[in-house]
Amino acid sequence: MTALTDDVMARSPAHTPPWTDKAKAYVEVAAEIEAVLEGEPNLIARMTTVVALLASTFDSYFWTGFYLVDPDRPDQLVVGPYQGTLGCLRIAFGRGVCGVAALSEKTQIVPDVHAFPGHIACDSRSNSEIVVPAFGSDGALIGVLDVDSTAYGAFDAVDAAGLEAILAQVFGRPAPDGEAAS
Ligand code: SME
Repeated sequence: MTALTDDVMARSPAHTPPWTDKAKAYVEVAAEIEAVLEGEPNLIARMTTVVALLASTFDSYFWTGFYLVDPDRPDQLVVGPYQGTLGCLRIAFGRGVCGVAALSEKTQIVPDVHAFPGHIACDSRSNSEIVVPAFGSDGALIGVLDVDSTAYGAFDAVDAAGLEAILAQVFGRPAPDGEAAS
């Protein structure tokens, strides 16, 4: 049992026995991400690996990717590594689900994106989404992880706990060889 799997379990009541299949899947993919990224300091490689492993684990994930705080325009997010159909390039803080997650620094679970004021429809097939903020080792916001599904109500507290734990593990402590994760 790794520290990461302990953390994933500790952060969600859903991660206590008996586990749901989804909770188990988050624990397993978290361990896989940790193993693949061991010794890799590059942040683009780390983000791309997180996206690839999450997208290939969960059939419900239709669009999976990062929007990152733009150091040149810190009131905006700019698209980062993703898998899915073409995403919009920039999102202002406070706009859409990603912008609200970035501004509030709180995970957003949206069961019906069409009912969310200001939702940005990059692909009209998306019907629900979860957006989770990612913080660096200094506690500063790096960006957000945005996951969209074609199903309504695809995401719940298990997804939130699983994704928050994975992002904390991957970005929330100094990366290997001392590179700061922000
Ligand atoms: N759904 C997001 C926009 C980004 S795309 O879905 C890829 C939002 O409203 O924040």
